[in-house]
Amino acid sequence: MALFEPPHARELFDLIEANRPQLRQWLNWLDHRRNPADVAAYIGLCLRQFAAHQGFHAGIWFDGRLCGMVAHHGIDWPNQTTSLEYWLDVSHQGKGIMTASCRAVIDHSFNTLLLNRVIIRCATGNQRSRAVAERLGFTFEGISRQAEWLYGRCVDLAVYGLLKTDKVPG
Ligand SMILES: CC(C)(COP(=O)(O)OP(=O)(O)OC[C@H]1O[C@@H](n2cnc3c(N)ncnc32)[C@H](O)[C@@H]1OP(=O)(O)O)[C@@H](O)C(=O)NCCC(=O)NCCS
Repeated sequence: MALFEPPHARELFDLIEANRPQLRQWLNWLDHRRNPADVAAYIGLCLRQFAAHQGFHAGIWFDGRLCGMVAHHGIDWPNQTTSLEYWLDVSHQGKGIMTASCRAVIDHSFNTLLLNRVIIRCATGNQRSRAVAERLGFTFEGISRQAEWLYGRCVDLAVYGLLKTDKVPG
């Protein structure tokens, strides 16, 4: 894993393009990243987020090829809490790459950033994302009703939380 930087823009755009229909099912930003310039602007925002001490957006490379990302959705410092976003190229799914990547970001969140709570929110119908949270020992805390708009449809979000004192399996 490494922070996204400007030279990654083309490779990241190509990966988004290759997975656009699958990602668009669950992620709300696809229509804002339609070309390499949009992705370059996104990387600029990610670096400003990191400089502002609000967490990071990291690419995941497997066998030298970019295959996905994992990110903090900012950091709620007063409450020592963050939430995670992630996605993976379809052909790299089913190998445990995201579970391992999230485990590394969670370890960093608790032991380097010294946060107390990490949250994963995903659409109740997003079984693969829910499975990542459950595999990592997150507690299902409930459902936020009609909490996210995805291209004209409104979905309920399953909320999962992990505390620093919880045990992360594996
Ligand atoms: C959510 C998403 C990242 C999950 O990807 P994934 O490949 O299922 O997750 P992992 O990389 O952790 O892999 C888990 C799978 O690998 C298997 N696996 C193999 N080796 C493994 C290991 N060492 N550790 C854990 N799992 C392993 C698991 O059994 C599981 O397989 P299964 O789906 O057949 O049960 C992916 O579906 C995605 O990008 N979805 C679209 C975007 C999205 O929804 N993002 C989340 C928004 S909240």
